Amino acid sequence: MITIKDVAKEAGVSIATVSHVINSTRYVSDELSKKVHLAIEKLSYHPNDIARSLKKKKTYTIGMIMPDNSNPFFAEVALGIEMKSFDLSYNVIFCNTNRNVQKESTYLDLLLKKRVDGIVFVSSGININSVKFIKSQKIPIIVVDREIKRLKVDSVLVDNLSGGYQATKHLLNLGHKRIACISGPSLITPSSERIEGYKKALMEASLEIDEKLILMGDFQFEGGYKYAKKLLRMKRIPTAIFACNDLMAIGAICAIKEEGLSVPKDISVVGFDDIALASFCDPKLTTVIQPKYIMGKLAANMLIERIRNKEMEPRRKLLKTELIIRESTIRKE
Ligand code: RIB
Repeated sequence: MITIKDVAKEAGVSIATVSHVINSTRYVSDELSKKVHLAIEKLSYHPNDIARSLKKKKTYTIGMIMPDNSNPFFAEVALGIEMKSFDLSYNVIFCNTNRNVQKESTYLDLLLKKRVDGIVFVSSGININSVKFIKSQKIPIIVVDREIKRLKVDSVLVDNLSGGYQATKHLLNLGHKRIACISGPSLITPSSERIEGYKKALMEASLEIDEKLILMGDFQFEGGYKYAKKLLRMKRIPTAIFACNDLMAIGAICAIKEEGLSVPKDISVVGFDDIALASFCDPKLTTVIQPKYIMGKLAANMLIERIRNKEMEPRRKLLKTELIIRESTIRKE
């Protein structure tokens, strides 16, 4: 393997000069810099990143821990993180916990061992160990999407309460009064906040909250399918369903059609996220837009700013959601 010593010999300069040129750690004249670059090119030299990291105590690598990389929501957030990190000369290690909180702790430990410079953290559920671990480490970290109130760190979130309110208000405006809500896992903030928005809209319309119409799903196709089937077995079937993410909304639509009913003619359905699939399913899904790609870019930018300036006060960015009306909701007959 070509070493820095070979490059110095080829260029006729000291090893220190080659190091200063590669790492821009000190001024080197254009003449000598040119000699070094020509030698690097001629010998096809690639600096040893591990040695460089040890010397600079930085790896220019960040980690992202996410709960479910098969969900297009996280894939689009991750794309924003990767694009912005690349622009800022950082690499990203993506860790998928598959919604397993024990695996989350394992990945936190792994990323520290890999000496990442910072972590983008999307929690997989309540995990005291993760919170304790993060608090005990000095590593820059930013929480995305799922707020952890006990952690005073940077965060990029959306206004889930407003999103849940917009979805439910839209159905109320269409004349629906018996509206079900299929929520995500109970222990994460997006679920509880969206339900809060749902209840707020119902209470504003002077409608009673029927807890039997609020079902705890799993943010998966299967959860939407399973709980829509349960709702269809009720004596008084709801005329509308607010599913707290698009995968469950699409699963619910499949279940409703399987029972010989029509969406939206018999039951209107609203989702949450606006993943790309929402525009191509049948019927096209009315849903709440989350600025997924922007969340990712903003999170990466804030984390790298934090890596460069660890003394800043924690920053909390709350982004807006927006209802997009497509074909899966109509006026109640
Ligand atoms: O679709 C996955 C859901 O989990 C999204 O709504 C997102 O907010 C995350 O919390």
